Amino acid sequence: MPIMRAAFASHFDDADPLAALTVGERPEPTPPADDWVTVQLRATSLNHHDLWSLRGVGLTEAQLPMILGCDAVGLDPEGRPVVVYPVVVTPGDPRGVSILSEYFPGTLAERVAVPRSNLIPLPDGMAATDAACLPTAWLTAWRMLTTKGRVADADSVLVQGAGGGVATAAVALAVAMGKRVYATSRDAGKRDRISALGATALEPGARLPERVDVVIETVGAATFDHSLKSAAPMARIVVSGATAGHEPTVNLRRVFAMQLEILGTSMGTPGELYELLAFCADNEVRPVVDSVIPFSRVEDAFARLHSGDAFGKIVIDHEA
Ligand SMILES: NC(=O)c1ccc[n+]([C@@H]2O[C@H](COP(=O)([O-])OP(=O)(O)OC[C@H]3O[C@@H](n4cnc5c(N)ncnc54)[C@H](OP(=O)(O)O)[C@@H]3O)[C@@H](O)[C@H]2O)c1
Repeated sequence: MPIMRAAFASHFDDADPLAALTVGERPEPTPPADDWVTVQLRATSLNHHDLWSLRGVGLTEAQLPMILGCDAVGLDPEGRPVVVYPVVVTPGDPRGVSILSEYFPGTLAERVAVPRSNLIPLPDGMAATDAACLPTAWLTAWRMLTTKGRVADADSVLVQGAGGGVATAAVALAVAMGKRVYATSRDAGKRDRISALGATALEPGARLPERVDVVIETVGAATFDHSLKSAAPMARIVVSGATAGHEPTVNLRRVFAMQLEILGTSMGTPGELYELLAFCADNEVRPVVDSVIPFSRVEDAFARLHSGDAFGKIVIDHEA
């Protein structure tokens, strides 16, 4: 059976997810249907999702070994550069869909199989290493701000845990949209870098100069009360992750008295990914990249993600 290099979850380790990562040989992808194609990978990026997978969140033992990775930029079978939309129709899943690396092998490999309809042309002038940041974290941030947060009707936005991939995306996009942006981070160095992106950086829990119309939440338990307290009447608190715990205490009096909307969201639609690519291309917005690491050092990339020191996206260069 033809084989390729890949980074995959070989077992689960909740306490030490890096110990569950294996880099080695896996079978070449076999498209499960006629309308699927194989993409030769050029660049990918890591997401917190990859650490959750190594911890066993969202996967079962029966699905192991599972190639990790949600994001991808590569070459289609005709040699054209493409961005891969990572959400795939999955009838057995209660959501009706799954993200690459959940049911179908992910993108941290030499090649990945996806439905041809998931391929979007790489915009002219956009580097593969930049575009590889967009399909998961940046798409999630885009939908949080636009479709869910209705940011067009907002003046101000708060982003919690601003050093993360989704969070830096939300800051950069909201600044590019001309909003007043506040962002919290536990780390003084990250707060300096957030300020350089055009946001007002604050320590977690700090009082804001004003209540905001949209809150971008990916941290969860550690920040949710602050998100509620910082929200203006009728504000939208949009939740796409819970890195620091998914069972916060919620003051319901504040929710109804201030008429707040708490909205859950996951990823985005293909149309939203087209919109995001066009917005970035037209406005010369580029992802906040922490580091670009060759695939041969993918373990180092995972260690950096796990350290919590990264600011923005960790990109994997498959051509280096
Ligand atoms: N639903 C979706 O479609 C979707 C898509 C992408 C991601 N997500 C979820 O969103 C979350 C963020 O993903 P990501 O890829 O942006 O992650 P990431 O790059 O690893 O960022 C996580 C960030 O959380 C912040 N944080 C604040 N308090 C924390 C605490 N007590 N413990 C750990 N981290 C804390 C940190 O910010 P500071 O260091 O600046 O404080 C850190 O930078 C994850 O839970 C992920 O599963 C969901």
